[in-house]
Amino acid sequence: MALVGQRLAWPLLVVLAAMLLSACGSPSSEAAERAEELLARMTLEEKIGQMTLIERTAVVGCDEAEWVAACDLEKIAEFGVGALLSGGGSGPSQNDVAGWRSMVEEFQDAALSSRLGIPLLYGVDAVHGHNNVKGTVIFPHNIGLGAAGDADLVERIGRATAVEVAATGIRWTYAPVLAVVQDVRWGRTYESFGEDPDLVSDLGAALVRGLQAGDTTDDTYVLATPKHFVGDGGTTWGTGGRGYPIDQGVTEISEDELRAVHLSPYPASLAAGARTVMATYSSWDNGKVHGDRYLLTDVLRGELDFAGLVVSDWAGVDQVVPGDLEASVAQSVNAGIDLVMVPHDLVGFQTALRDVVLQGLVPEERIDEAVLRILTVKYEIGLFDRPLPGVGLAEQVGGDEHRALGAEAAAKSVVLLETGPGLLPLPKSERLLVGGRAADDIGIQSGGWTIGWQGRPGDITDGTTIVEALEAELGDGVEYEPSGSFETPAKTGLVVLGEGPYAEGLGDSATLPLPNNELQVLERMREHVDRLVVVLLVGRPVVLDAVADLADVIVVAWLPGTEGQGVVDVLTGARDVTGVLPVTWPASPDVAPRFEKEACEDALYPVGYGLGFDGVPLEEVGPCGSP
Ligand code: GLC
Repeated sequence: MALVGQRLAWPLLVVLAAMLLSACGSPSSEAAERAEELLARMTLEEKIGQMTLIERTAVVGCDEAEWVAACDLEKIAEFGVGALLSGGGSGPSQNDVAGWRSMVEEFQDAALSSRLGIPLLYGVDAVHGHNNVKGTVIFPHNIGLGAAGDADLVERIGRATAVEVAATGIRWTYAPVLAVVQDVRWGRTYESFGEDPDLVSDLGAALVRGLQAGDTTDDTYVLATPKHFVGDGGTTWGTGGRGYPIDQGVTEISEDELRAVHLSPYPASLAAGARTVMATYSSWDNGKVHGDRYLLTDVLRGELDFAGLVVSDWAGVDQVVPGDLEASVAQSVNAGIDLVMVPHDLVGFQTALRDVVLQGLVPEERIDEAVLRILTVKYEIGLFDRPLPGVGLAEQVGGDEHRALGAEAAAKSVVLLETGPGLLPLPKSERLLVGGRAADDIGIQSGGWTIGWQGRPGDITDGTTIVEALEAELGDGVEYEPSGSFETPAKTGLVVLGEGPYAEGLGDSATLPLPNNELQVLERMREHVDRLVVVLLVGRPVVLDAVADLADVIVVAWLPGTEGQGVVDVLTGARDVTGVLPVTWPASPDVAPRFEKEACEDALYPVGYGLGFDGVPLEEVGPCGSP
């Protein structure tokens, strides 16, 4: 028995050691060995194929209805493609779990038919739940989670998201964003946990732990992608790329500030086991970060000891040397990009990379290094053994447990900016007049990156609007009229004002407005009620002037996602109000930048500000004096 025990003990020890190593992000030796062995059998074309990440529509260039039969799926094997992604909103015509699984399976089967049968990595932006897929739970965007400031909550959201992503056969999400937003005019403000590097570090690592829980080969171990490395949240207004005012711009700060503010959140996520990192579109001292060897190799690998793969952003490589694909590919691959998100010109990219290798501009050793990292990650997560995970998880998608978690997160995100004695919670027995189209709109309460890349207003997926939750809670005392026009006055009125969905640079805004037509609702409601409560569904601080003049209570619910119940739980007192601002609320848009400013400099409300129902600041952080 003892001998058997010893025999058993020895392999067990090896496995345990490998698990320990892989759990903290460094490649397990077994995975690396298998990757080395496979690499040795690959041609240059097959290696270049593994460095190719294309969008799904690059190989389904025809009407989706026939995409299985009539399209050129065989390109995946023909060009040895190593990875595919669904860009924002890009999915099968049957937009449910079964439809997504079937789509991923077809792509996977196509890849496995190649000479070496290397499985695909399939990636998706599941950035607040599995947000492309109808019926999933959409969690609050990161700015709301920053207001909640609860790492355990974020870890549980990561876990729930991983289960819903794996249910569709996918093992890789492009989250968390580790941007440390410094100018809330940026259209990606809501994707950031906030302006404090420590908060971003804590919550980002929590999401990584939640996504990558259990053994690396478990079906629901979903690869996280801390992004966008590095400095995406610190660009200067007016330097934006691709015609945007600030998105994809230039981070015009010292190296000390870049390290202290924007680099500092990465170590915790890497220590939590992140195996992929996405480069930022933005630029720093050495030009586009996608082509910056100092940051992508010397810092990320040399100093932070990152051993996983670096993936480029969508066509980010093309921007390195505008108009010269070969030079762009050579510079970015030499800088440290391992996997290139092309995302469409498959042949153009592969031709350019092959040419620069044959010209000696990119050493084949560099190709081998990149491919080894990619293959090692695929072996580590067990992709060769089980290319299509997630059987039997479908019933958890959009289930009660995840919806309750979404409601908890929405509630904890709520910040109370202004109130008065006895104004909240809402009384249960009186008539409540409710106005504003945003009060009954899943699309507005979910924001961008929901079903579609930009999101959109409307009944876009399953969930509970604020009005639906109010009616369930307060019964027929609730009267809802989007326009805010009511015949009979009442003691209490509630208006929900929404910023409206947007994503990335299309959301950059010099004026941070609430839509004009929404403010008219406010004016109408004011005439009918004694007490007016305003709920803001916004991705960032907005101009409050009219709201401050007319409202008795101002509540910020950010972009809570599908579970509006959570917001109502706070409004009715079923849950306490606990959220505090993760970003400064600027006195006006033109003084939004926070670079090296004091807490109340150019501010209405500082970071950390938030009231309890009694009107007392929760964290002894008062409002800033009038500007
Ligand atoms: C986008 C975003 C990035 C996202 C990628 C894939 O442009 O910058 O955050 O992960 O493309 O959708």
